[in-house]
Amino acid sequence: MTAPSLWIPVALSADIEAGTSAGTLVNGEERVVWRDEKGAIHVWEDRCPHRGMRMSFGFVRGDHIACLYHGWRYDTGGQCRYIPAHPDLDVPQTIKVPTFAATERAGVVWMAPDGADATDLSTLPETAEPVRSLFLDMPAAAALAAVTTALPESYSVSATSASTVTLQGNGTTVLIAAQTRDAERSALHMTVTDNADTNARRNLALWATDLRNRIEARSMEAA
Ligand code: FES
Repeated sequence: MTAPSLWIPVALSADIEAGTSAGTLVNGEERVVWRDEKGAIHVWEDRCPHRGMRMSFGFVRGDHIACLYHGWRYDTGGQCRYIPAHPDLDVPQTIKVPTFAATERAGVVWMAPDGADATDLSTLPETAEPVRSLFLDMPAAAALAAVTTALPESYSVSATSASTVTLQGNGTTVLIAAQTRDAERSALHMTVTDNADTNARRNLALWATDLRNRIEARSMEAA
């Protein structure tokens, strides 16, 4: 299975619970990933149009997110709907947070330019179980390369794309999706197909921790 380069992985689905938000960095830009209380996922620019407070510090209430600073409230389209200091104001349409296309596939949250076609992700399994995310001080391509040189026991690479490596082993499929945080930092989001038992998931999580330790040890040696 492969993932098209238009879609960028930004989090494990399991890490963004309903009614919560989290800030992340994508290609050097701050983004907020949030899930409304109905369960729909959203990825926006992480900046309130009022005075620039991070939206990821805000509060999710139902299908709105409210800025921490002065409480301006935005609907799921990014449109500001309510300003507490001016409760009767018909809020101008121009007060809007820039939004992105957001979807979930294979246990990962993906973002793309607004209007992108989510069917592009249809080669990935619909759902998967989380293994873990690794946050690394290295470019995404180097992080994916490190994965392929230290595969978990009994797994082999079955597919690669610019942002993913897929492994097969033990009757399961593991997806490792790389997020470029900036030129020097990346995150690897790892999931495994639903048929993996607890033991297999635990072993994969241990392998991921070991991978990070080895990468860190290597960069300390190089420093
Ligand atoms: S900065 Fe967000 S409401 Fe003022």
